[in-house]
This record gives sequence, C-alpha cells and structure tokens, in this order.
Amino acid sequence: MQGEIEVAGSKNAALPIMAASILANSSVRLRRVPRVDDVDTLCQVLAELGIDVSRDDEGEMLLETVDREPVRASYELVSRMRASFCVLGPLLARRKKAVVALPGGCNIGDRPVDMHLRGLSALGAQVKLESGYIVAEADRLRGAKVDLGGSRGPTVTGTANVLSAAVLAKGTTTIIGAAVEPEIVDLGNLLNQCGAKIEGLGQSIVQIHGVRQLQGADYEIIPDRIEAATLLIAAAITGGFVTVKNVRPEHLERVFVELAEAGMEIEKGPDWVSLRAEDRPHPINTTARPYPGMPTDVQPQLTALLSIARGQSTVTDRVFPNRFMHLAELNRLGASIERGNGAAAIDGARRLTGATVEASDLRGAAALVIAALAAEGETVVRNAEHLDRGYERLDEKLNRLGAKIQRCRQ
Ligand code: EPZ
Repeated sequence: MQGEIEVAGSKNAALPIMAASILANSSVRLRRVPRVDDVDTLCQVLAELGIDVSRDDEGEMLLETVDREPVRASYELVSRMRASFCVLGPLLARRKKAVVALPGGCNIGDRPVDMHLRGLSALGAQVKLESGYIVAEADRLRGAKVDLGGSRGPTVTGTANVLSAAVLAKGTTTIIGAAVEPEIVDLGNLLNQCGAKIEGLGQSIVQIHGVRQLQGADYEIIPDRIEAATLLIAAAITGGFVTVKNVRPEHLERVFVELAEAGMEIEKGPDWVSLRAEDRPHPINTTARPYPGMPTDVQPQLTALLSIARGQSTVTDRVFPNRFMHLAELNRLGASIERGNGAAAIDGARRLTGATVEASDLRGAAALVIAALAAEGETVVRNAEHLDRGYERLDEKLNRLGAKIQRCRQ
C-alpha cells in the first residue's frame, strides 16, 4: 500500500471525557470526537441521563446538561458498550447517586469492575448491587488514599471513574497505581481545564484536590494511537510506504520498537509517522502490557502481521490473557498459530490464502482485515461491523491506500 492517511480522535479518550461532562455546571465543547458506534452508544446513555449531545460533521460535539434528575444508565445500553460504565464516577460525584448496569464480560475477558467499586467506596460512597445494577450513593465524597494497583495491574476506566469522582470530593485524594495511558492524561487535562486541581497525570501516583464545582470547557481529543498502529501494521503486512498523519508519535514508542524489530523502516515527525516495508517481516517475541508497554489493543493486529514472518514468533498478553479469539480465524487463512499457556506460538507462513472468517470483537476484526490484505484471493470477514465500534470507516481509509475492500450484506 502507498500514500498518506489521517488518524481520527481517540475513542478511548473520548468516552471517559464525554462522561465527565456530567460533572460540569456549563456546556462542554469537544473537538476531534471520532464518528464510531461506541461514541454513538454513549451519546444515547448520556441522553438517558439528561445530557443533550449535538454533533457536526467535523467531529465537533457539544454536551449540555438539561436535566440532573435521571441517574440510571440502563442495561440495554451498558450491555451494548461496557465502557458506558465510566458514567458511574461522574454521576455519583455530581448528582450524589448513580444507578448503572453492571457490564457483562466480553470476548476478550471477563472484565470485572471490582477495582472501580473499591475505589469509589474508598471515597466514601455506599455501593451495592441490586438486580444487576450498581447503586452508588454519597452525599459528598471525601478525599482519600485510593489504591488501584490490583494484582492484575492498573485499570484504565477504573482510574477514569475514580479520577472523575475525586475532582468534586471534599479534600485531597491520592490515587496509587493509577493507569498512565495517554487517554487518562487526556481526561485529566480536560478536567483541569474545567477547573479541577489534578497533579501527577501520567504518573502512577496522582493527587486530586477537590473543588466545589466545575465549569465547561472547549477541548480537543488526542489522536487515536490504536488506529495509528492498526494502519501502520496494515502497511507492514502488505509492503509499501505509508504515512499516518495527525498522530502523537510519543504515544507509539513501544509499537515503533516492535515494528522496527520486525524489520520495518520507521520515520517520524512532530505529528506524523511513516513506515516502509520491503518484504516479509522478521519474527519477534512480544508481550502486551499496560502503557507504556505494547498495547493489548494492538496485540491482535501484530499477531496477524507475525503470521507471515520468516520464522517463529511468540505473542503474550499480560492484560487480557485470553484475548486470542482471532487465532483460530487466522489459522483458517493459512496461519500456523498454536495457543500455549497464555501465549500464542506463531510459525510464520510463507503466504496466506483467502477464506471466510468470523470477527468476534473490535481489534480481532481489525486483525482479520489486516491478514486478509496479505492473503491470496478473496477473504470474507463476517461480523465486520465490530470494526465500526472503534474505527472511522477503516475500509475506506485502507482503500485510499490501495487495498480492495468492499462491504457486503451477510
Ligand atoms: C480499557 O478497558 C480500554 N477500553 C480497552 O480497549 C483496553 O484494552 C484496556 O483498557 C486495557 O488497556 C476503554 O478505554 C474504553 P482495564 P478497561 O480496566 O478499562 C482487570 C478497545 O479495543 N480489571 O484497564 O475495561 C481487567 O480484567 C478496548 O478499545 C480487574 O481485574 O480495561 C484486565 O485484566 C478493549 N478489575 C486489566 O485489569 C477491575 O475492576 C486491565 O483492564 C478492572 C480491571
């Protein structure tokens, strides 16, 4: 593939930032909000909660609270998009009560929320489970020391929930073991623009001095580092020379290391990255870890690339050890991957051949599309609508770079 492509705003920054608008006393204007299904679902959840959301075609979004009464986020919507759970902290802090459906598991893991609940309880909330809904109440949250560094590592949306609740608590909160992902830094920067007093963003110890109220903001969402990595890996597997624009290279350092080790030529500027791929990738051993490690949200896509490497690779996922639903589907395309204890052992195939495969989650779907780009003949990816949850028209972007992808009715 050849050419240049723009990256959209980050889905995983936009979601907690949209939820944080519940905290503000006046409207919040956001720019570069990606047009993806998960954002649309959260707009519906916010509408249920009395937040009016209007959008234009340029990725601009205006969020205005019109009714502070409803405090319930329904199972129908939360079960459709589990990240809706990040309305819990803002609702509790701003309206003193939150009733949010407990999200279920999904295809990449059982996704517990125990650390979210432990964090909010530490801030003084009464938290209980009633008929599948988390009911959290607190007249006024109190600043506290909150340890989020569970045995399973930091929690991204758990940090978002506690951070968003602590900004209106009485007194100072210290979060230990906070997630340091760029999306959490983005949320914290938005909250500080609204008048919050947060120090240490991007570190694992974050301090929040509670304030009485937050005003609105006008804020631009960071670029989507996972989309950028996905586009670069699509270029790597097909060979060629692709430049992704409007990115923050500093958010992708580990991805560059892995791709360079796989033999890719990476060049970067202040807000762009280019990748040149001469021939088949070299094999590598890689492990997905919390930021700044190799992102778990890039692990399926990298696994697809390594399925045609010239040798043996291993891929381990320390964040979601069971995030390997895509392996069997990659093997249908001619890959030779075996699932070991929490790791995938990949014996690089000389070529892949087209087949019908089934997507089961957002990044797994991206991995199958990437593998299909390198496969000989035609591949049909069923349930490809998973892509639209987190990518803005990924097929159109790849076609602009020379891919041949078309949507078809199932
Ligand atoms: C966020 O999910 C992202 N989603 C995920 O991206 C991403 O894969 C994940 O972080 C890890 O980076 C959004 O930001 C909307 P976690 P989150 O809580 O916050 C365990 C995508 O494709 N854990 O950081 O739900 C958990 O089981 C999505 O865009 C607990 O045990 O993930 C996991 O092993 C997929 N108890 C680890 O921590 C808890 O209370 C990290 O999960 C919370 C989490």
